[in-house]
Order: sequence, then C-alpha cells, then structure tokens
Amino acid sequence: METAALDLIEEEKSTTTSEENLGDLEEEECFFQDIVLLLDQGIAVDDVKRLKDAGINTVKGVQMTIPKKLLEIEGFDDKKIVKINEACTKVSFVNSFATAQEVVQRNQIFKLSTGSTDFDKLLEGGIESMAITEVFGESGSGKTQLSHTLCVTAQMPGPNGYNGGKVIFIDTEHTFRTDRLRSIADRFNLDRNGVLENILYARAYTSDHQYQLLKNVGEMLHREAGVFKLLIVDSIISHFRVDYYGRKEMAHRQHRLGQLMARLHKISEEYNIAVFITNQIMSDLNNLEQSDPQRPVGGNILAHASTTRISLRKVLNGKRIAKVYASPNLADSEVAFTITSGGIDNVNIN
Ligand SMILES: Nc1ncnc2c1ncn2[C@@H]1O[C@H](COP(=O)(O)OP(=O)(O)O)[C@@H](O)[C@H]1O
Ligand SMILES: [Mg+2]
Repeated sequence: METAALDLIEEEKSTTTSEENLGDLEEEECFFQDIVLLLDQGIAVDDVKRLKDAGINTVKGVQMTIPKKLLEIEGFDDKKIVKINEACTKVSFVNSFATAQEVVQRNQIFKLSTGSTDFDKLLEGGIESMAITEVFGESGSGKTQLSHTLCVTAQMPGPNGYNGGKVIFIDTEHTFRTDRLRSIADRFNLDRNGVLENILYARAYTSDHQYQLLKNVGEMLHREAGVFKLLIVDSIISHFRVDYYGRKEMAHRQHRLGQLMARLHKISEEYNIAVFITNQIMSDLNNLEQSDPQRPVGGNILAHASTTRISLRKVLNGKRIAKVYASPNLADSEVAFTITSGGIDNVNIN
C-alpha cells in the first residue's frame, strides 16, 4: 500500500472513533472493510479522508448512505459518487473470498474449441479464458462465423472438467444470425432452442453504447457468477471508426478504446471468462504501399490489450488461413480451416 494509505491508517488508530461515527452500521458487521481499501481502486486520499470526516468508515457504510447525503460532502459531485460506489462494489466483491477465489479461478482456466481441431492445436487447445483473443481479417474471412461457432462450442463440456456455460454476444455490425446458430447446434447434436436460450444478445448502437453495455455486463457477471463463460464483441472497432473521424479525433478515440479494452480485461480476469473480439484491417486501398496490407486497426491500444491475436484470410476454394500474430506464448504459425453450414471446421473433415 502506498504511504498515503499508511498515513491514513495511522491517523485512524490515533483518533478515537466515536460510536455515532459508525452511523447505521450494525454490530454484527464484524468483518467490515475499511474505506482505505478504496485507495487501491484509485479513489483519492483526500476523498477517503472526507468520507471519514463525514463519519463513513467502511465500504458498507458508503453503500448504505444515500447519494443525497454523499453530495453534501465538500467536493463531492455525481461523477465522484459513481466512481466511489464502483470502487466499493469492487472491493466488497473482491474481498468476499479474495485469495481462495483467485487460486481456484487460476486453476480453472479453460479453452473453447473453434470448431476445427487443427485450429485448436494452433492455439494450444482453443480460445482461452482469463484472456482476450482477437481475430482480424478482411470482410468475409470468417470472423463472424467463428464467433457463431464459439457461441455453441462454449456450451459444450470440454477438457479439464470444463462443463460448458452461457455466452454474451455484443453485435455492432448487425450480422448475428440465429439460423446459423441452429445449424451449428445441429452439427454438434445439441438442442437448437437450448443453444439459443444460452446466448444473451445485445446490439451496440454506438461506441459509447458499447461501453455502457459492457458496464451492464460486468454487473450481471457479478450477480450471476460462474454462469457465463464467453463474451464476444463482433466487432470491437466498427463504431469507433465511424464515431471518431480524422487525425484530430484519433487521440480521443484511442483513449476511449483503451478504456473499453481495460473493462474487457477486467471482466475476463475477474470472472474467468474467455473474451473474444473481432477486428478489422486497414482498408486495402490506403495501404497498397505498406509492407503488410493485412495490418489490424486499433493501433497499440488493441495490440497491447489483446492476449492473443489471430489473422484470418481467404485463400482459394473457400479455404481460410488462420495465423497467430505476435503472441507472447504461441509460435507464429498458421493453419488452414474451412467454413461449413456447421460452422468452423477442419479442411479435411474425417
Ligand atoms: N452456411 C454456410 N456454409 C458455408 N459457408 C458459409 C455459410 N455461411 C457463411 N459462410 C461463409 O462465411 C463467409 C462470411 O464470413 P464472416 O464470418 O461473416 O466474415 P467476416 O470476417 O466479415 O465476419 C461467407 O462469405 C461464406 O463464405
Ligand atoms: Mg463479420
């Protein structure tokens, strides 16, 4: 903990806290969480002090105080209160079973099948949980088809005791198709309606809306821990390319994109979820002179945020090539796959 936090704790010890200061807190609240914990969530020292001055000493204390009361604290506005409440939610959740939960979660990293065992081998098992996997490629390269296939395979039991789970699909390009899901379900002999039932779908209408949706997703995952195993955003970038235009808005765009990716990152780790995002490539026309016309958009922000990046491209006879792109732990190798009515599959189907 930083020194400022330690100072606060010292201060806390030296001042006698009167009974009234505990406010509405009940005695049975024996494992209360001191609000100095909010410092670790990025809440300013001054704000924590002000809360204490107002007699609010615990996370629960903040949660039990109505916003109107918090607004009376000097320097507090709606925005700050939202931020503090978010920090409280995080602290109270994380602290519930922090260590045990982290250990358990870490042991339970699972991998979801792409639908092609060849493709899975390339990924050393499949799309991994607690990580962000990004696929990018030209239009028609199979990004959305892979997303649909994963919606189904995520529901099936897999290696290492994986039992399957529900899926959240955020669609920005309006290319989500339930009829595709039905035929993929048929391939795996799954009940069509059951498969559709397990996919929670939302369209995102703008980049801001996309961000808001992810906030709701976080809250839902908190409520329904362990139910959802896969979060898909198809595509991560399309709204950003429309909502922010030209060089002047680029910095702002990247900033917002970074916030979105941070949220995804948090979701993947906190709830042991596989996050799968699709991305576009630079327009071929603008990049004829570039050494790599298949370059993904989103710049460093996406490059750094994604754990694994895979490029997809079309080759002859409907075949596709998937190639691992700059992965820290996977070799930069490639594999062929195909798209069938049953989703992504090996080229040579046995
Ligand atoms: N039912 C199907 N059977 C075989 N191939 C299909 C089927 N549906 C779509 N495809 C293939 O998938 C391609 C579209 O891929 P898609 O994943 O939508 O691309 P994108 O990378 O743009 O998201 C189509 O061009 C077609 O070749
Ligand atoms: Mg698509």
